[in-house]
Amino acid sequence: MSEKNRAIFFCIILIALLFGFMHHFFPEIHFERLHIFLLNLCTGGTLIIYLTEGKTIFSLKTTVFFISSFIYAIFSFLEIYNMAIAISLLLFVVVETIRIKKFGFFPYNFFDTKSKMAEKFHNASLLCLSIGILLSTFAIINHEYLKLLPFRKFELNTFFLGFSFPVSLITLSIIFSTMKKAPSNTHKILKILSFWIINVGVIIFFIFILFESFILELIISLILFFTVALVFWMYYRLGFKEQRKLFLSSAIGFLNITAITGVAYIFLYFTNHYTPENSKIIKDIHRIVSLYGWNLTGIIVILRNNDFPIDLNSYRIILLHWISTIILIPAGYYFPAMALIATITFGVFIYIVLFRKTKTISMDGKVPEF
Ligand code: HEM
Repeated sequence: MSEKNRAIFFCIILIALLFGFMHHFFPEIHFERLHIFLLNLCTGGTLIIYLTEGKTIFSLKTTVFFISSFIYAIFSFLEIYNMAIAISLLLFVVVETIRIKKFGFFPYNFFDTKSKMAEKFHNASLLCLSIGILLSTFAIINHEYLKLLPFRKFELNTFFLGFSFPVSLITLSIIFSTMKKAPSNTHKILKILSFWIINVGVIIFFIFILFESFILELIISLILFFTVALVFWMYYRLGFKEQRKLFLSSAIGFLNITAITGVAYIFLYFTNHYTPENSKIIKDIHRIVSLYGWNLTGIIVILRNNDFPIDLNSYRIILLHWISTIILIPAGYYFPAMALIATITFGVFIYIVLFRKTKTISMDGKVPEF
């Protein structure tokens, strides 16, 4: 991707993070929709479209999706819902035209054993994005106007989670595309099983959240947690030895912490330690690790997909990513001074991974250690 386009995403990602700290200065205003939708829908959604089109430059459709999703985030923040609804229909049409052109209307490749896992996850990511956009439109219409469905959680903020799943699925598509072919039937079955458990599990999980059934949420989230751990094990065993593996392994590490904090958030309800404060802290950490750890790594790998190996010390840069995501950003949610340190540290991290040059091949033709 061109340096100019990377610079645009560098700014959007940093602005999205800054909105996560604005409550320190404007406590009466809710910036979550900008903080979250600029990252998962605007940045993540646009890169799913960009990756699907497979061009090095932004096509008209990718540009329309990028600008519209940016405006959608602003209208949903300003609660100008009729405009948000109109734009979400445009987003839906853009995603569907691109998905149907690449994979056809019906997702046959889900059921085709010859189809690659990466292609299945890619198709699922596009389908999840278009269904998510359509559902979020109904959620706005139901919550703001018609009040037909009695679900308290069927509202726009529940798509903080909803718009993160397509980015998760495209990251899993990249993870499975950098894995060796299944060496045995068992591995093949485990790969297919993880595809179905993750996709069906996420849909069931979303329905249980709408019904606010904590015990069912706990059961399905434990199944998702073990499936995520299985993907980690398969990637460790079958992942190609390359620089991307370090970043994607770090990403799955974040996903496991996401699952643990997600399960802990539900489990807290069943204990005596439940207080709204404790619950908020766990939910905040869950949100940050899932978005600025797991989702963001997928976004970085797509942004630099053709540039690996990149000329940087992967271990040091990944450590910086973990320190800012696990410690500094959560602390920044609660302490303004930490918000400043978190923004600078995170800014340095994202600048290095987005703008460092590709590593040159040394004279003896070997690619130096990453
Ligand atoms: C096993 C895995 C997971 C579990 C158990 C889990 C659990 C939860 C629960 C219980 C909620 C609160 C829902 C509510 O009642 O409002 C939630 C919210 C959320 N989850 Fe997860 N989740 C998981 C995976 C993920 C993943 C993979 C992502 C993103 C990529 C994610 C991102 C979010 C976000 C953004 C929210 C909204 C937080 C907020 O409103 O502040 N979660 N999750």
